Amino acid sequence: MRVYGITNVKGGAGKTHATVHLAYEAQQQGQRVAVLDLDPTRQSVNWVEVAGLGIPALHLDIKQSDLEAYVAQLRADGDFDSVFIDTPANDRDATLETLMVSDIAIIPVGVGTSDTGMLGTTERQVRRAQQLRPDLKPFILINRAKFAPARERETEAECLKTGIPVLRARVPLRGDYQAAAGKTPHGYHYGEVWREVNA
Ligand SMILES: Nc1ncnc2c1ncn2[C@@H]1O[C@H](COP(=O)(O)OP(=O)(O)OP(=O)(O)O)[C@@H](O)[C@H]1O
Ligand SMILES: [Mg+2]
Repeated sequence: MRVYGITNVKGGAGKTHATVHLAYEAQQQGQRVAVLDLDPTRQSVNWVEVAGLGIPALHLDIKQSDLEAYVAQLRADGDFDSVFIDTPANDRDATLETLMVSDIAIIPVGVGTSDTGMLGTTERQVRRAQQLRPDLKPFILINRAKFAPARERETEAECLKTGIPVLRARVPLRGDYQAAAGKTPHGYHYGEVWREVNA
């Protein structure tokens, strides 16, 4: 079982979009997939349920439950190939706890939305987690791309400064992504992301 933690302390970066699209992508590849939603707003759970994707999705309140034990049990049960964890904004504990149980971390960063402003905070959590889990593979995913080239270059430069690998695959700013919540995912961009993070 592989665990994908989708984190960025900054709100609105595209965590929930990445979580649901990547889970759907994995399911389309024939994998047994689950979503764990740590966000009290439960947007991933709602999306998966409203769209009827047939992906088990559960909200977990990490203040009440032990994420590490929960994921260890999932690994022991062996019922899933890939588990995607969506995390809340502005919650360093949830971010760090997620990174501590993840094999792959995906950090969406939006172009032109000052998402890089808090990148240092997320980066520090990644480095903390890596001290204890050197195998953790983090990636930055540039979101809302292909719209404002100059700002995209600035965003990319800020991302590269962290030393965290930046995925070549990017998700463009598009109205259909903006309106995607609650719908069956489509489009190939997250397919490219999926292939790259698993290469
Ligand atoms: N590629 C995109 N193109 C256009 N709009 C997008 C794109 N990705 C995300 N959005 C929009 O940006 C907003 C934030 O996306 P999302 O909810 O996935 O971010 P988040 O990081 O989960 O936010 P939060 O921190 O509040 O949980 C949503 O309204 C979504 O529709
Ligand atoms: Mg979200």
